Amino acid sequence: MILLVGNWKMAPEKPVTAIDLIKKTLAIAKLFKNTVSIVSCVPYIHIPLIGKLIKLPLSLGAQTVTAETDPANTGLISASMLKAAQVTYCIVGHSEVRARGENNDEVCDKVSVLLEKKITPIICVGERARDAQGWYLSEVKDQIETVLGVLSGQGYKKVVIAYEPVWAIGAHAAREATPTECLEMVIYIRKIFADHIGEKAAASIRILYGGSVNELNAKVFLREAKVQGFLVGRVSLEPKRLSALALAIST
Ligand code: PGA
Repeated sequence: MILLVGNWKMAPEKPVTAIDLIKKTLAIAKLFKNTVSIVSCVPYIHIPLIGKLIKLPLSLGAQTVTAETDPANTGLISASMLKAAQVTYCIVGHSEVRARGENNDEVCDKVSVLLEKKITPIICVGERARDAQGWYLSEVKDQIETVLGVLSGQGYKKVVIAYEPVWAIGAHAAREATPTECLEMVIYIRKIFADHIGEKAAASIRILYGGSVNELNAKVFLREAKVQGFLVGRVSLEPKRLSALALAIST
């Protein structure tokens, strides 16, 4: 089963548009339910509304969470609150959140509270820029090694890793990664896991690619970069393109 995670970011503004988008996404999820599993990570403000409408085969996700458990924390949303609102997936460590100051230790704490509440963390990793000497590899290594501490036992089976090179994300991205660049990183990520949890366990980790994924380039990533799915921003807001993307990866 290919995992297709949509990251709605700060859109749409109006609840009525969010309802329309989730209904269309649900129809797409039903159409491709045998091959593609779709998760919509919606803004907090729409979660209660969408939580009432969501049903399988579509899953509801959040875009971040706090690791705080003390309710005396203004403006934060906890893993228990997400759980109560039907959220089953949550993105952590997205580069746009890291850019606002989230560090590897905080990502690790967030993974921990999500696992406790049985919400699947989608852990984003990825380098900010590439250099000829390969220093960018250590950036990704640090991001992964910090979370390994909370994945002891069978924890690694309950997370999803999203490889998202920061330079390939969003409307200002110069380009998407090439399938070869992505494959190298997928192999490297599996190697880091293998060194800690063994080759067999590392082979079962689900790794997604994210960064300017669309209906034209996704199939090649699936075939050549050996990813198990995608984290998609802009295309997740356009049902026609999302449907074309699901079709492209399911055939
Ligand atoms: P994009 O965003 O698909 O619009 O590049 C991906 C992401 O930020 O997760």
